[in-house]
Amino acid sequence: MDTQAALQAIAEASSLEALQQLKAQYLGKNGLLTGEMKTLGQLAPQERRERGRVLNEIKQRLEQALAERSHTLEAQALEAQLEQESVDVSLPGYAFPSGGTHLISQMQAELLGIFRRMGFSVVEGPEVESEFFNFDALNIPPWHPARDMQDTFWLEGSSEFRIHAPGGQPTRDQGRLLLRTHTSPMQVRYMVEHTPPFKIVVPGRVFRYEQTDASHEAMFYQLEGLVVGEGITMADLKGAITELARGLFGSEARVRFQPTYFPFVEPGAQFGMWWAERERWLELGGSGMVHPNVFRAVDEYREQMGRPRAYETLTGWAFGFGIERLALLRYGIPDIRYFYQQNRLSFLRQFKP
Ligand code: DAH
Repeated sequence: MDTQAALQAIAEASSLEALQQLKAQYLGKNGLLTGEMKTLGQLAPQERRERGRVLNEIKQRLEQALAERSHTLEAQALEAQLEQESVDVSLPGYAFPSGGTHLISQMQAELLGIFRRMGFSVVEGPEVESEFFNFDALNIPPWHPARDMQDTFWLEGSSEFRIHAPGGQPTRDQGRLLLRTHTSPMQVRYMVEHTPPFKIVVPGRVFRYEQTDASHEAMFYQLEGLVVGEGITMADLKGAITELARGLFGSEARVRFQPTYFPFVEPGAQFGMWWAERERWLELGGSGMVHPNVFRAVDEYREQMGRPRAYETLTGWAFGFGIERLALLRYGIPDIRYFYQQNRLSFLRQFKP
C-alpha cells in the first residue's frame, strides 16, 4: 500500500462522496490497510509489534487526513450555498396589501371607549324599525311636523311587531316598518325591557331619504346616549358631555348648550364643543331631559306586556349625534361621500391605524 499516494488522493478528493470512497478503499472492511492489518497474525511477535505500530500510525494519519479534507469540503460547500442563496437587501421589497379599520369604525370605537370608562353599557338595536318606536313612542305622532325633518325610507308591509323580551309577547304596535331615521328608538326599546337606573350608549346606522351632497348621506352613523335614575339632572348631562369633549379634544375642551327643540326631550339643547387647538366651536348634536310623554309611552307599553310601570317618578337625559359629522369636523374632510359612496381607498388609507 502506498501511503503517500493515499494521502495525496485524500487531499485532492473533490467531493464528500469521493472522500467516502477513499475511506472505504483504505479503511473499509475490505480496505487496503485493513488487509495489511489482517496479515499481522502471520508475523513473528517481534516483527508483529513493529509492523503493528507502523500500520497504526498510518491508520491515524489517514483518518486525520480524511477528517481534515472532509472539514474543508463541507466548509466549501457551505460557502458555495451561501454565495448562491445570498439576498440583495438593497432591492426594494414587496409591499403586501393589508386592510385597515375604516375611519368611522375607529371613531366609533374611540367614542365607546370614552363612555365605557364612564360606566356606560353599549347596546344595539335593529335597523329595520317600526313606526311606533321610531316616532310615536318618542312623542312624534303621525301629524307631527317633526316627521318632516327626518325623511323616511318606508318599507312595504306592516309589522305585527314583537320585541325581544323574555316571553316575547305581541305588542300593540301594528304600525308600518321603516329604516330607522335615528338611534333614539333604542331608548324606548331599552326602557321597555330594563329596570332603571342605567346608563347606555347606542351606536348604529341610521337612514334618511335624502338628496346626498357634501354634508348629507342617506346612510350614516349615530351615537345615542341615555341615562335614567332618581334625581338625574341636566348637570349630569353637562358633566358627561364635558367628559366626552375632553376625551376627544383634550383637557382644554369646553362645552356649550343652546336651547332647541326635539320632541322627545324637554328642555332640549343642542351642544357644541370648544376645540382649543383650532379655536372654534363644533356643533355636534342634540340632547335634553327625557320628555315625560316618552316615559309615559314606555310605561304604557310595559303595562301591556304585564310589567310594572317603572319610569313615571324618575328623570333622565339623552343625547344623539352623527359620527361622520364629528369625523368631518375633526379631520377637516370636505365631503361625507368619501366615506362610503366613493369608498376611495386613497382617502381611507390616510386614516389607517
Ligand atoms: N335623534 C335626534 C336626531 O337625529 C338626535 C337627538 C337629539 C337625540 C336629542 C337625542 C336627543 O337623544 O336628546 O336627529
